[in-house]
Amino acid sequence: MIDKIKTLISEAEAFHTTSQQDLEAFRIRFLGKKGLLNGLFAEFKSVPNEEKKAYGQAINQLKTTAQDKVNSIKLELDKKSDDQGVFGDLTRPGEPMAIGSRHPISIVKNRIIDIFSRIGFNVSEGPEIEDDWHNFTALNLPEYHPARDMQDTFFLKSDSEMLLRTHTSSVQVRYMEQHKPPIRTISPGRVYRNEAISARSHCFFHQVEGLYIDKDVSFADLKQTLEYFTTEMFGKSKIRLRPSFFPFTEPSAEVDVYWGLETETDYRMTKGTGWLEIMGCGMVDPNVLDNCGIDSKVYSGFAFGMGIDRIALLLHQIGDIRLLSENDVRFLKQFQSAF
Ligand code: DAH
Repeated sequence: MIDKIKTLISEAEAFHTTSQQDLEAFRIRFLGKKGLLNGLFAEFKSVPNEEKKAYGQAINQLKTTAQDKVNSIKLELDKKSDDQGVFGDLTRPGEPMAIGSRHPISIVKNRIIDIFSRIGFNVSEGPEIEDDWHNFTALNLPEYHPARDMQDTFFLKSDSEMLLRTHTSSVQVRYMEQHKPPIRTISPGRVYRNEAISARSHCFFHQVEGLYIDKDVSFADLKQTLEYFTTEMFGKSKIRLRPSFFPFTEPSAEVDVYWGLETETDYRMTKGTGWLEIMGCGMVDPNVLDNCGIDSKVYSGFAFGMGIDRIALLLHQIGDIRLLSENDVRFLKQFQSAF
């Protein structure tokens, strides 16, 4: 009896196949309901007591050998069929490839660049790590100017002149230092402010700065340019300029675009006024021109600055600015765009 089981164990050990059917046949023969093992277990009763122990051990060994065999061959075959899935059938349709989407910040930035490039503005960039001169002093914010506090600055070291730029106006200065008028440039980029992170504000965000310098540039040119921009960007041409203050422009204004009050969303976005604030602007202060080596008696110009994140939130009705930097694919894949 035991010899018979030992022969079966060697048989099971020696078994190998590359076919699913043969493996299944093997499994049924050894481990199936009416298979060899169940038969042997059933015979256990009739085995003489003194042989029971050895008999029991032998059939248990047969059982694990057969079971291990089935498992290991099954693994091998499964792996093979996976490989064949990719390489075996060349007529198989390809796996669809997920198409990425542009980030909403890039979409808005590219649209702004496109709109201004159509009226002759080029794109310029500057460093995110700036010095005091380009971020503040040249922009008419001398050392103890109170307006410096308006922009909570990240300094690289407490005694350092170096900082993370708080606005892209620093690129104006760099551009004017290196180019002669006529100047028509926009400067998109990331800026940093030491602010608590919340749904409405972040310690970094993005701006586009605009600069136009030539002979006889007037406030009317600024207004025309802004009207062109809001028409192209939002499909709205009605704007208003509210007097404001920026150290680098004189006079200065804040620009509101008339959004309308047709829907509930319009009410919410404009807090019931119909007007939406979109940027700051003004005529470049003569001090700034002189600081940058441009003769303020010959040239004049205008500048403006707007927040890209803010416009992206408005256009897409996004309620939390933090979503723009979390890289959650479920959020990002909702933006498909030609820009
Ligand atoms: N730099 C300003 C800010 O960060 C925005 C700004 C306002 C830029 C008026 C300008 C300007 O060029 O003329 O809030």
